Amino acid sequence: MSDELKKKLKLKVSAIQNGTVIDHIPSENLFKVITILGLDKVNNQITFGANFESQKLGNKAIIKISDKFFEDDEINKIALIAPHAKLNIIRDYEVAEKRIVEVPEEVNGIMRCFNPKCISNFEPMVTRFKVVSKAPIGLKCRYCEKITHEDQIVII
Ligand code: CTP
Repeated sequence: MSDELKKKLKLKVSAIQNGTVIDHIPSENLFKVITILGLDKVNNQITFGANFESQKLGNKAIIKISDKFFEDDEINKIALIAPHAKLNIIRDYEVAEKRIVEVPEEVNGIMRCFNPKCISNFEPMVTRFKVVSKAPIGLKCRYCEKITHEDQIVII
């Protein structure tokens, strides 16, 4: 089998001309990633697939967004739910650049505070956390100052 044919068979979701391919997303978090990046509200062409085989994750999802290039602080918002995501920047059908996501310094409006008594769980307000540790992730609430640990993260 030719290399070209092998590549085509591997391409379960069509190649794009220009834009961003986000690969290695845990399948169970695909729709959360779409919401966090606001992709449910844009007019760009988007294709995605889930439950593809992955040697690293066992099971991965992929999103391809045409004509969209993310800023680092935009894309780092998904680090909490897709820490191993890889970004491929596509220009004229070629992979022009590969990037990884990094846990940001602050996380706002994405997750709940684990403290049931925290005001942010009662009032309609934007949750705000300072990242106090990155591996494993620890996030200190700006309101009640309690730390939510990685295994306690609940995405809003
Ligand atoms: N891709 C795409 N459109 C293009 C070129 C690439 O959608 N015009 C996608 C590929 O389908 C792949 C990702 O971008 O999902 C990265 O492409 P490439 O680096 O060629 O693939 P791999 O070597 O398999 O990537 P990895 O580094 O993740 O192993």
